[in-house]
Amino acid sequence: MCGIVGYIGNKQATEVLLEGLSRLEYRGYDSAGVAIFSDQHITVKKRAGRLANLAGVLEHSPMEGQMGIGHTRWATHGAPSDQNSHPHTNETEAIAVVHNGIIENYMDIKQWLQETHKIVFRSETDSEVIAHLIAHYYENDLKVAVQKATARLQGAYAIAVMSKDEPDRLIAVRKDSPLIVGKGENENFIASDIPAILKYTRDVYFLENGELVDLKREGVSIVDEFDRPVEREVFHVNWDLASAEKEGYPHFMLKEIEEQPAGVRETLNQRLTAEGNLNLEGLTMTEDDLAKVNQVVIVACGTAYHAGLIGKALIERYAKIPVTVDVASEFRYRDLFVDEHTLFIAVSQSGETLDTLAALREAKRRGARVLTICNVVGSSVARESDDVMYTWAGPEIAVASTKAFTTQLMAFQLMALRFAELRGSMAQEEIRTVIHELKKLPDQIQQVLTMKDEISNLANQHFHKDKVLFLGRGMDSDIALEGSLKLKEISYINSFAIAAGEMKHGTIALIEEGTLVICLATQKHVYEKTLSNMKEVKARGAYVVAIVQEDAEQVDDIADVVIRLPKTSSMLTPILSVLPMQLLAYYTSIERGNDVDKPRNLAKSVTVE
Ligand code: F6R
Repeated sequence: MCGIVGYIGNKQATEVLLEGLSRLEYRGYDSAGVAIFSDQHITVKKRAGRLANLAGVLEHSPMEGQMGIGHTRWATHGAPSDQNSHPHTNETEAIAVVHNGIIENYMDIKQWLQETHKIVFRSETDSEVIAHLIAHYYENDLKVAVQKATARLQGAYAIAVMSKDEPDRLIAVRKDSPLIVGKGENENFIASDIPAILKYTRDVYFLENGELVDLKREGVSIVDEFDRPVEREVFHVNWDLASAEKEGYPHFMLKEIEEQPAGVRETLNQRLTAEGNLNLEGLTMTEDDLAKVNQVVIVACGTAYHAGLIGKALIERYAKIPVTVDVASEFRYRDLFVDEHTLFIAVSQSGETLDTLAALREAKRRGARVLTICNVVGSSVARESDDVMYTWAGPEIAVASTKAFTTQLMAFQLMALRFAELRGSMAQEEIRTVIHELKKLPDQIQQVLTMKDEISNLANQHFHKDKVLFLGRGMDSDIALEGSLKLKEISYINSFAIAAGEMKHGTIALIEEGTLVICLATQKHVYEKTLSNMKEVKARGAYVVAIVQEDAEQVDDIADVVIRLPKTSSMLTPILSVLPMQLLAYYTSIERGNDVDKPRNLAKSVTVE
């Protein structure tokens, strides 16, 4: 949800900002802009559309200057237009601001500025009020002006600001939106995410909520919301830019699909001892801690929520603890039964999803122990949790989540087994058998990915369909939800998923001649019943693609296409069965001529409510 970059140093700021913004475009790509300081004034250039539009403008009229701020936008208030793009300035263009988040009380502030101070606004955004408000409080000290202005803001924000009257200073501040500081030699950076600055430095500081950073060329100083100096340890990034680049793949999504064997293997191997026993470092819960838990609540959004649904099945089956799963945007507004006997599990690839973070804080406030499955080291959700299990997927750039999902499933497998071990609900021998099966998964994923051509052909035959149904029972119905989400978000085909047994209670009315139905039937205990559901839709004209285990019988007589997965236990099939659906979504999107990595209306990291 919007990307921010700021630079102060000796390089040409435009180059640094464009490089940074290109790494942040996954966060929003409706429009982009930069503000550069030079010759005692600030020049702003901004354009609606992709970053390439702005880069084109800057190529024709380059801007010199060694300090600047940049922004790539995901529109919330006001359409994606040149006018609504960031940076925003005050009327005299003395102050320039970029903002990520939502200012909830902007209408009140705007009205006050218009009526009392006769300020004329040039955009429809909430963000513009910040520039005017800082200018209103400005008395030769940008830091003080920003502090006074932010004290009046309600909502979520990461803000970077510069003033034409202070050529050696950038100020940035955060509340509920991510912001990191990059530390260089006689140059410093701020950014929404690490890849934006990785070309220049690997040393970063994570800002905490309410903190403000004062950036000069020669150093940075951080203060908390009460203006007390903060000492922060440098975090050294140990992954490189190559893992955030396409490396010859046509799209990040395909690269990330192909990276799943490695991600899943790494997520597993990090948690096994040389003898093959569980060793979950991030999960510090003891037998006593777990004995106090009478319920598990899993909360997440989108794809991570679907991982949570599988997590529920695994924890209930292995560890015999009752689990509820909720979408984060609903959780906080329910009547909650969360207390110190609750284990709250947040699942988030980015660790910055605002709804998930807010749910986590609410659960903590009520005394729950908080455990997180997360892909980004040092992210907000991870930092605020008691325990963290990292998914070692590497940076996920494509908007459609793939490798984060399968690694989340692996993390849930290990967590559920550990709970089973602590509670004694599974014999050591049984646990070892599951681990033995888990170890086979990376190669089995690789095997499924060799079906690329077959699935690409399927996409080629069906990409023009206007609706697609996904069916399944048990964990297959959870994976059906994920398959459907993947397809709709990048192909824009109206797709939905339903528990197969529910079809005849209404939804089957949608089936007509040629309707594409993807039916998962990997769960042994409900296999026959799922076959019956397949027959029901087939009898009404559906074109059925079945996803089944290697040794599945009878299905060839019913389905039009049968996709067979390598043999594994029913509890493990979700990590395999989701793969053909990821590929189907990918190739369908390509057939339809869509922008696979940057689907319309979406952004990668949802840091607004
Ligand atoms: C879909 C997708 C989203 C995310 C969701 C949560 O492909 O990527 O549904 O899963 O926005 O994001 P995280 O996991 O970063 O909290």
